[in-house]
Amino acid sequence: MDEKKVMLSGIQPSGDLHLGNYLGAIKNWVARTDEFDNYYFMADMHTITVRQNPADLRRRTLEQLALYIACGLDPEKNTLFIQSHVHQHAELGWVLQCYTMFGELSRMTQFKDKSAKHKENINGGLFAYPSLMAADILLYQPDFVPVGEDQKQHCELTRDVAQRFNSVYGDVFKIPEPYIPKAGARVMSLNAPDSKMSKSLPEGCIFLMEKPEDIQRKFKRAITDSDTENCVRYDPAAKPGVANLMSIYSAITGSTYEQIEAEFAGCGYGKFKPAVGDAVVECLRPIREEATRILADKAYLESVYKAGAEKASYVANKTLRKVYKKLGFVAR
Ligand code: TRP
Repeated sequence: MDEKKVMLSGIQPSGDLHLGNYLGAIKNWVARTDEFDNYYFMADMHTITVRQNPADLRRRTLEQLALYIACGLDPEKNTLFIQSHVHQHAELGWVLQCYTMFGELSRMTQFKDKSAKHKENINGGLFAYPSLMAADILLYQPDFVPVGEDQKQHCELTRDVAQRFNSVYGDVFKIPEPYIPKAGARVMSLNAPDSKMSKSLPEGCIFLMEKPEDIQRKFKRAITDSDTENCVRYDPAAKPGVANLMSIYSAITGSTYEQIEAEFAGCGYGKFKPAVGDAVVECLRPIREEATRILADKAYLESVYKAGAEKASYVANKTLRKVYKKLGFVAR
């Protein structure tokens, strides 16, 4: 019997994967492979709440899968799949929309932010997005959902919706816990250290498939701090840029902040920044090479996402059948 706890998470293929995704999420997923029964997916259905270029979406979805594997997520031990391949997501998503309140959806920070940004396209999907995310989660009855700070509100809503449904129909859904890992860096933008690293700030963002020269250039231009101290010291309040570089270096090398301070004592930022750049280049090199190799092997990639979708559908379908029965839908 498989008694392992279930873990599930997804990333939208709306932008290329970057160092923040790797150090903040994927690396932790890899470390937990044996401890949990894991489901990781490309949340392609979520991306169309804002307009996408179809060719880019297709490329990024496959590239994301290749990178998951190249980062060390073994497809034999993790169920890796593409959200739109498992139709139960859309089906349960609709059901859960009917159990999510207009007021709740109106209060979501991400909805407010995105509708402010895309005033010309505030569509129903953007509004109902958290109900689809609740379906993504609840279909697999997970114990834990590892997410970043920005998704905590959606996880809370998922719990509320699950509890609401359970209170009417009995124990249908397991109530998942958000899982904010102890280890794992929150990587900030290299040129705006008060913002999370993201594709919308490309000069401060290191993409996993990026060329070593470009990575080095971005690190050399990274913001350190405005004081004249020029000393590698961990002080996130006074020197957020330096602290961010130290946390990246620490996540990659395993060194503590004290060890990093000692290693670069008397060196100044002129030596420190390229050293962090080198560490990142060397960390990403095998990942990029392996992802490139996997991407060229279309048959392998296809076998992974097909097997993943089959396994995921089997589990998702069990939950969906139960839900339909409780609702009073006639079995076919
Ligand atoms: N909404 C998440 C994001 O934008 C992605 C996502 C979709 C997700 N469904 C999920 C994350 C289910 C965890 C679980 O980052």
